[in-house]
Amino acid sequence: MTTPSPFYLDCDTGIDDALALAYLLASPFACVKGIGTVSGNVSAAVGARNTLDLLALASSDDVPVALGAHDPLAGSFNGGAPWVHGENGIGGVSLPTAAASVAEESAAEMLVRLAHSYPGTLRVVAIGPLTNIAEALRLEPALPSLVVSVTVMGGAALAPGNITPVAEANIWHDPEAAALVLAADWDVTLVPLDVTMASVLEETHRQSLLASSSRVAQVLGEMLGYYFRFYEDIYGRPCSAMHDPLAAALAVGAVKASVAPVVRAAVDTSEGAGRGQTICDLRGLYAGYPPVAGARCRVVLSLEEDFAPHLVETLLTLERAGQPVPVG
Ligand code: BDR
Ligand code: CA
Repeated sequence: MTTPSPFYLDCDTGIDDALALAYLLASPFACVKGIGTVSGNVSAAVGARNTLDLLALASSDDVPVALGAHDPLAGSFNGGAPWVHGENGIGGVSLPTAAASVAEESAAEMLVRLAHSYPGTLRVVAIGPLTNIAEALRLEPALPSLVVSVTVMGGAALAPGNITPVAEANIWHDPEAAALVLAADWDVTLVPLDVTMASVLEETHRQSLLASSSRVAQVLGEMLGYYFRFYEDIYGRPCSAMHDPLAAALAVGAVKASVAPVVRAAVDTSEGAGRGQTICDLRGLYAGYPPVAGARCRVVLSLEEDFAPHLVETLLTLERAGQPVPVG
């Protein structure tokens, strides 16, 4: 029997963030020790509200939630992406309000505390802008030696961006923070649009969630209805990309990359057309990606297997673990 690893999740909850959170709660390989929120899809405060409510619905209200940065390191929060995630961030789905409230510590303080509590074993999964992670690096310069892995959903290596032609949302919302995180003295696994846009959840998968007796799975299916409408314009059918849950599954180790070179990566923090671009040095492509001295960023470009069946199968285990409640 494998002992679950301790996880810190940093998110901007967000429909696909909700999927990632539920996935980590359902995974037998993960034990979520704390969650920090950051402004991105919604404000950090709305993200915290959504996170608390989801945790309560999943009977996991013992997991502490810390409010993180409202604004990026430079500039101000731009108001989020209601056309993708809905005004409330979770596709207009209304959840019962949890009794729990946010922790007294900030998200960055929580990450530092957990890194000291679980030295050498804490896994960090960042699925929103990287402001809190950059702040934690400032608070505790030894952070890289304390955590065992850092997995970031973000960037576009060879694929186009989703905010600008070259910039992906999580990086674009706070390029300065992303640059600090990629330059820190740790190995980062980057899960960019190259692989998340190629991992698609279909209507049949959504129907499986809606048909579950777990209320958590049902509400995820309901939220996905909103998300699918946004992605219909991109894929030409009702379905969605799976950004954040894929990063969670790769961090857990339940999903394996087939191509994931370790390369040098930087972030464009200029004010020009390239702002927010992740510049991954993939020039080793034609030589089968030979090792690069000093490279620290593992860029996931493809997977061994289709991710959607594993995601749905894992989420449906909430049916057995959670409290089934009647629909309606
Ligand atoms: C990322 O941006 C957000 O909209 C999603 O939650 C995901 O983390 C995809 O670019
Ligand atoms: Ca997110």
